[in-house]
Amino acid sequence: MRLVHDADHLAPFAGCTLVPTMGALHDGHASLVRRAAGRGRPVVVTVFVNPTQFAPHEDFARYPRTLDADVEIARAAGANAVFAPPPEAIYPRGLDAARTEAAAIELPAVATVPGLEDACRPGHYGGVCQVVARLFDLTRPSQAIFGEKDWQQWRVLDEMVAALPARWPGLAMEVAPTVREADGLAMSSRNRYLRPEQREQALGLVRALQVAASAQQPATAERLMRETLGDHGLAVDYAVVRDARTLMPAGGFERPTRGLVAARLDTVRLIDTMALPVCR
Ligand code: PAF
Repeated sequence: MRLVHDADHLAPFAGCTLVPTMGALHDGHASLVRRAAGRGRPVVVTVFVNPTQFAPHEDFARYPRTLDADVEIARAAGANAVFAPPPEAIYPRGLDAARTEAAAIELPAVATVPGLEDACRPGHYGGVCQVVARLFDLTRPSQAIFGEKDWQQWRVLDEMVAALPARWPGLAMEVAPTVREADGLAMSSRNRYLRPEQREQALGLVRALQVAASAQQPATAERLMRETLGDHGLAVDYAVVRDARTLMPAGGFERPTRGLVAARLDTVRLIDTMALPVCR
């Protein structure tokens, strides 16, 4: 297992399976690496806390940075390399220029229209597409794996790659299931912000999604999700049922849909999602 800081040292890993992360790895990330390992390709985990996807008031400064532990988790899960570039390797023209460039990126509709993370975190997906495109250019993967929990991010990146076949020829995009704690809380690097008494409240997200899965109509599911989040003392950003692909409002459950929730406990913002049963 190699720790690589310099993109010039990535040549042996061309054609890899890539697991892009911002570090603070947990068992959810490890499951992505384990999924990638054993496919006959090198597995590269990127660790880069990307400044351009955070708004000024968000948690960029306090985002956990745990590179030594990340390297150990990646190694144990079967990675061949951890690529942890310095900011200047990703943004050689500097951060101000990078922010301007991120704001100018043409994004797919799924990044701008649904009114979910795009509305709550304006500018976020410009930064995400910018950094993932740069990481793809540097690492030249043949596959990339993302976690399901950030479902809108997954849809955005999948569409970005589909729109640019000549830039990353043959790149296969894959989404992998959310890993949950024993009580159902979706694993997230941000869970470590939760105070002990908030830990139980945070279960409101998964419970809201479980309740949605038993509703007969999307409108009922959305009402029940909001009620459940409120009962747990969570401030709701959104609690919706959407078409799983377009993320636009779903009229019924005849096609694949997802419940998507985002809610806050003081300064901690959490998201979760679940596929809802089709055709009930
Ligand atoms: O999901 C994440 O951890 C990040 O948004 C990503 C995809 C690594 C880009 O910084």
